Amino acid sequence: QADTRESLYLVSEYANTYFQKVLHNTNQGKAIGLSYFKERGFTEETIKKFQLGYSLDEWQAFTDDALGKGYNINFLEQTGLTIVKGEKRFDRFKGRVMFPIHSMSGRILGFGGRILVTDKKAAKYLNSPESEIYHKSKVLYGLFHAKQSIAKEDNCYLVEGYTDVIQFHQTGITNVVSSSGTALSADQIRLINRLTNNITVLFDGDAAGIRASIRGIDLILEQGVNVKICTFPDGEDPDSFSRSNTLEELTKYLNDNAKDFIQFKASLLVKEANNDPIKKAETIRDIVNSIAKIPDQIKREIYIQECACIMDISEEVLFSTLAQINKKES
Ligand code: CTP
Ligand code: MN
Ligand code: MN
Ligand code: MN
Ligand code: MN
Repeated sequence: QADTRESLYLVSEYANTYFQKVLHNTNQGKAIGLSYFKERGFTEETIKKFQLGYSLDEWQAFTDDALGKGYNINFLEQTGLTIVKGEKRFDRFKGRVMFPIHSMSGRILGFGGRILVTDKKAAKYLNSPESEIYHKSKVLYGLFHAKQSIAKEDNCYLVEGYTDVIQFHQTGITNVVSSSGTALSADQIRLINRLTNNITVLFDGDAAGIRASIRGIDLILEQGVNVKICTFPDGEDPDSFSRSNTLEELTKYLNDNAKDFIQFKASLLVKEANNDPIKKAETIRDIVNSIAKIPDQIKREIYIQECACIMDISEEVLFSTLAQINKKES
């Protein structure tokens, strides 16, 4: 199995080199791919740092090239770079700009490919399929480029997308990783947890982003990791926000708006239904449910005190609710 995996790495690394060459050295790559990245505000340095590339808008340009270089069709198929249908072979990422996904040690595990013009017909992003080397739920995009600064800052910003990571780097914040979509997994949190005990969730400022933040909170707390949440104005994501602000403005925004999970959940209530006692009761129960996930007893107690204060309810009631939850779960 080790041999197969090494072969898949080698094919992926060849593809990564190839897509970058196409981006920088072909007319189509420059006219379409490179100008797309430049329009997004990515500098030459950023494009090189993240090894961004372009896959020609032809049915099998990459596959033919790789076969010509002696790469085995089975490995091309297993990485998903080539789709085999009977006698026919297709480049999976035809006509897309390419974001390589690195392992913690910098090897290429897979790719995300973005379509240039978004319409309803094709998915905006296409990703490598699961393979011997790529397990979506065990990978964090950007970890290779962020690991040192996560440890140094003792905090990790968690964002949704590839471009959020990249634009943050360009603006000057480098302790950032992406869950590549919204389904954060326990394994992904474990990867961060090896470097820091603090996560700040920065999901998109839309309903889907808020929902995903809420789901992520309990998963993070369960692992004994401290979590803060910072939301963006509706319609903005970390990419668009950091692009239109300086490092000083971005840092200030993050510091001013990062809330702990109790403040975050309480603020959702204020937004929705400030005076509705039923909604308020639901929110309190929801917060205590989250507190129940925290392994450390001292932290649980401190959060109970905070919840009592913010929600204007007695600690006794909260502690007995917590005890009920624990009894139900054991
Ligand atoms: N994603 C995906 N497949 C899709 C849509 C999204 O895999 N069809 C993943 C990608 O990793 C993407 C992330 O989810 O980066 C966040 O999605 P979204 O917010 O919709 O995209 P952005 O990252 O904001 O992309 P862009 O700014 O290029 O539109
Ligand atoms: Mn495996
Ligand atoms: Mn989104
Ligand atoms: Mn987004
Ligand atoms: Mn975006």
